[in-house]
Amino acid sequence: MFDEHGFPRGAELNEAALPALYHFVYCSRAADGVDDAEVGRIVEAAQRHNHARGITGVLVFGSGVFFQWIEGPAAQIQTLIASLYGDARHYDIVSLGQSEEERERLYPNWDMERVEAEDIRLVLQDALESTEDNNNVAALTRILEQIDSGPLDSLGRR
Ligand SMILES: Cc1cc2nc3c(=O)[nH]c(=O)nc-3n(C[C@H](O)[C@H](O)[C@H](O)COP(=O)(O)O)c2cc1C
Repeated sequence: MFDEHGFPRGAELNEAALPALYHFVYCSRAADGVDDAEVGRIVEAAQRHNHARGITGVLVFGSGVFFQWIEGPAAQIQTLIASLYGDARHYDIVSLGQSEEERERLYPNWDMERVEAEDIRLVLQDALESTEDNNNVAALTRILEQIDSGPLDSLGRR
């Protein structure tokens, strides 16, 4: 995700022309019957759809809980949010934040890779230590505070 200098791989070199980027971050509980095979189908479809729509992000699944950060053009993200709220494969969707900012992508190349739930805190800490963008620092700090304040621990841990 980051090169040896700590910069996100594939980051925009022309920092003077940062695009407006919309992001949505949430957690949710997997519906009964959503097994590893179903999660695999979600990831496969997400990678295909998102690439075509300029959406990147990260999907984490563990202990029956999804955690997802998606970022891209506002209209595309809004359309995906509507699909997510209508998707019966998860429920109890908790919005942890969304906004539009002019900044680099937090996950420029990470098209919905799946990581272990225990790794999410390390992933976010890693991104926090590697970014020099103040908006990215603020956004990552907010997510870590959300996680530490409990929504992930109180949802779906069985
Ligand atoms: C936890 C979870 C994460 C998802 N993430 C994405 C995603 O990043 N991109 C995507 O296109 N669909 C994602 N989906 C699937 C969408 O909810 C929806 O099924 C898909 O966009 C196709 O919708 P459509 O048939 O209405 O176009 C996700 C579903 C779940 C349950």
